[in-house]
Amino acid sequence: MNTGTVLEYANNNLNHFIDELKEFVRIPSISSSAHHRHEVKRCAVFLRDRMNEMGLTRAEVIETPGHPIVYGEWLNDPRKPTVLLYGHYDVQPVDPLDMWETPPFEPDVRDGRMYGRGTVDDKGQVYVHFKAVQSWLNAEKTLPLNVKFIIEGEEEIGSENLSSFLKNHRELLKADVAVISDTPMHKKGMPSICYGLRGMAYFQIDVRGSKQDLHSGSFGGATKNPIQALSEMLNDMKDEKGRILIRGFYDDVVDVAPDEREALATLPFDEEAYRKEIGVPRLFGETGYTVLENIWCRPTLDVCGIWGGFTEEGVKTIIPASAHAKVSMRLVPDQDPEKIGDLFEAHVASMAPPEVEVSVTRMHGGMPFLADTAHPAFEAARKALEKGFGAPSVFIREGGSIPFLDTLVKELRIPCLLVGFGLPEENAHAPNEWLDLENYDKGILSSIHLYEELSKITSRQ
Ligand code: BES
Ligand code: ZN
Repeated sequence: MNTGTVLEYANNNLNHFIDELKEFVRIPSISSSAHHRHEVKRCAVFLRDRMNEMGLTRAEVIETPGHPIVYGEWLNDPRKPTVLLYGHYDVQPVDPLDMWETPPFEPDVRDGRMYGRGTVDDKGQVYVHFKAVQSWLNAEKTLPLNVKFIIEGEEEIGSENLSSFLKNHRELLKADVAVISDTPMHKKGMPSICYGLRGMAYFQIDVRGSKQDLHSGSFGGATKNPIQALSEMLNDMKDEKGRILIRGFYDDVVDVAPDEREALATLPFDEEAYRKEIGVPRLFGETGYTVLENIWCRPTLDVCGIWGGFTEEGVKTIIPASAHAKVSMRLVPDQDPEKIGDLFEAHVASMAPPEVEVSVTRMHGGMPFLADTAHPAFEAARKALEKGFGAPSVFIREGGSIPFLDTLVKELRIPCLLVGFGLPEENAHAPNEWLDLENYDKGILSSIHLYEELSKITSRQ
């Protein structure tokens, strides 16, 4: 087995790998849109066909009550370790469409970047592993370890079907280590191993007043305005120091340990450049913590959207019948989204004024994640990234969530490596999403090395 020939194959085929990624990005696999159901399915079939082409020994589209899961394997030697490669082929919606410089599903390469929905989150990163495995199988007709792929179509909508699938098919997905590329690097040129993610709890609040809108002249002064009631409740959820005021909210929060704070403080981070990049006049976060601590290690509460009443041009004098808001919370170890849901409902109920009806709907939830970096897989990843990027890697946490991760770690009881090749500025979930093609290239080379390095960790199967 010779990594040299594999790297050579990859280097010689990079342009093909870029063209092939374009084909994947062209499929509008928006999981949250009922209209796109057939496209999501088409994307799953597309991936299964690519798995067969690259020479996997098994490739299947597995139907679920929601969107399909794509499973593939190349199992060769039971004495060797098995790596489980997880990713997602679903993408976020594309609105506002008029903000895109080129259409979201017509991938466009300019200035060393590929623009298009899903290029970084997560199609490009899924393809990093497809192309690394393909390079091994083409150049050496073998891989240094056993490989299982599990690529789902519901990550952006909470991964519920995959989680129940795993609980019923533990044997199928049994592995020694999981690898996920669905996170950003700390910055360009700095390969990163992410050992922590925040969890989440997402809610909708509906406030109802009168049975329909009322004339604000005839009725104003006699009823409670639902928008006002909602605003008062939202206002009472967070104080001016960024502390969340829900009773019991911080009970299970594990504070960042002093040595971890020290380690995080050594990471390069330019607060002013960060502020400018996002374009706010001033940053805001919980008092007493740095920006990195606040986005990686502290929980938050955000109103993601709010609507109700009259918002068209001109005036309309009404008291609206209802008001609504979506509220998300990012959670940290050891907070549990179910328990937070109970606390949130109790809090809203205690604040709800008697003049309106208030209801809370629980939407997505996901547990936070924190890895034990002492496992040898982390050392293997460090070595591989250094070889692939020609630069030392850093250990980071991230603020986003991968809802399936907790189920994966708990059900399979294996370490999970989050080695992502995205960049924070690549506009994931936003207009003009892009992927840095140098990172795509180096991601593929690093993964070729990673399989080799992971093959040296002892198999527990
Ligand atoms: N790739 C992200 C997860 C991510 C983002 C990790 C940023 C680290 C930093 C993933 O596709 C995602 O967007 N997850 C959602 C989950 C939610 C819809 C349940 C998230 O974090 O909002
Ligand atoms: Zn995403």
